[in-house]
Amino acid sequence: MKCAFLTFIALLTCSSAMASPPDGETLFQDNCMVCHGPRGTGGSAPKLAGDASEWKSKVFERAVLSGIDDHGKPLKAPMPHWANASFKSDNGVKPSKLEIDAIQKYLHQQK
Ligand code: HEC
Repeated sequence: MKCAFLTFIALLTCSSAMASPPDGETLFQDNCMVCHGPRGTGGSAPKLAGDASEWKSKVFERAVLSGIDDHGKPLKAPMPHWANASFKSDNGVKPSKLEIDAIQKYLHQQK
């Protein structure tokens, strides 16, 4: 029984490792564009392209997940704390670093 369970875990791990990398453009359009504008050029919320897109990935991840900016200050509502939320396509699972990095990479390319 234990072996069957471990095989199941191994299969799960392999299939997710083989999945294609997250699409930063789609993730951005589905979850961020409504406030941060097309291609992250700004809207009701600040522009991200050419600004937060250039932050260290750890700083960008912290801003997205925990709402703390590059100066260590809390970001005001309505910026979501994504650690307590989920991207539209993720069905309740909180965003992964890979997904956040893919969004930042997409924004970096928009300058
Ligand atoms: C409901 C609107 C809304 C959504 C959706 C939203 N944000 Fe924000 N975001 C904001 C607001 C407003 C601010 C500015 C808060 C402040 O100045 O304190 C902000 C700030 C930020 C900052 C810091 C920018 C800076 O220069 O300080 C980052 C990074 C960020 N958002 C990334 C994202 C990402 C990535 C997504 C999508 C996964 C997203 N946001 C979705 C409203 C939103």
